[in-house]
Amino acid sequence: MQNLDQILREAEASFAAIDNLDELEQGKARYLGKSGALSELLKQLGKMPAEERRTAGAQINQIKDRIELALQARRDTLRDIQLQSQLAKEALDVTLPGRGSGCGGLHPVTMTLRRIEELFRSIGFAVAEGPEIESDFYNFTALNTPEDHPARSMHDTFYVEGGDLLRTHTSPVQVRYMLEHQPPIKVIAPGRVYRVDSDATHSPMFHQVEGLWIDRDVTFADLKGVVADFLRRFFEQDNLKVRFRPSFFPFTEPSAEIDMGCVFCGGAGCRVCSHTGWLEVGGCGMVHPNVLKHVNIDSQLYQGFAFGMGPDRLTMLRYGVNDLRLFYENDLRFLRQFN
Ligand code: DAH
Repeated sequence: MQNLDQILREAEASFAAIDNLDELEQGKARYLGKSGALSELLKQLGKMPAEERRTAGAQINQIKDRIELALQARRDTLRDIQLQSQLAKEALDVTLPGRGSGCGGLHPVTMTLRRIEELFRSIGFAVAEGPEIESDFYNFTALNTPEDHPARSMHDTFYVEGGDLLRTHTSPVQVRYMLEHQPPIKVIAPGRVYRVDSDATHSPMFHQVEGLWIDRDVTFADLKGVVADFLRRFFEQDNLKVRFRPSFFPFTEPSAEIDMGCVFCGGAGCRVCSHTGWLEVGGCGMVHPNVLKHVNIDSQLYQGFAFGMGPDRLTMLRYGVNDLRLFYENDLRFLRQFN
């Protein structure tokens, strides 16, 4: 029985020396297994006198419990070490800078279109859309554009099979909108338009935004106010000069060209404004009674204005881009500058 303490110390030392769980279970067998050291002692109990047998049995069981405790303690330690090393191996440093999300951005013209919509919505305009493939009726006839008007010529207009065409302006959306809505009408219509034209300042596809306000007493003064206020807010220049130059469009009477003071030279004259101090940004006018007649609006009761502006040009002026084609080449080096 003096062996017991020694067995316990040996067991404890041997468990402490083992550093993997499989070996630990084998070590367990050596002390607690069927042919382990304690079982051997238990077998010898039979040979002992009865009174000694009881205390010896109790002592052996006590040691057995302590060996089991030592075993469990080592097991816990080893499991903990294993877990810690696994955690260390799988550790993530969440403070490391990311690899770069490659986040995309909006196209500069899209940014302009959204800004235009936001500014017009803020003064009560709705936003409408129309089809890019149009009929001759909506693109020309309903807009009071006579059969022999030069804008209808093959040189300007892309025709598609069957006689339809790619709309040459957003003005047909005016007609579609007035057929579907009763005055008061206050709407803008941004979108793509197409013309047979291509150089540094013309692209066969470009954008326009149409504006239309029809009510009982909308005047040319309202037109001037709305357009000038829009341009000043768009360019964030309270003192931006805006002027209206007499012009002609079949669908408006009177008609005007919208000019604003050159944002590059402040009116002094530079290459961008061809040394005039002015930049042309759109056309406008009071909606022609013939147009209202086509959409069954009584021009004795209602009147209003319309305008058309070029968001591509507004984008060029706002960001100082000098070649329209840059917008449509999709060169990422160019586009990334707007992110
Ligand atoms: N549709 C014209 C164009 O493409 C622009 C325009 C001028 C639109 C006058 C209008 C307007 O609504 O009133 O050149």
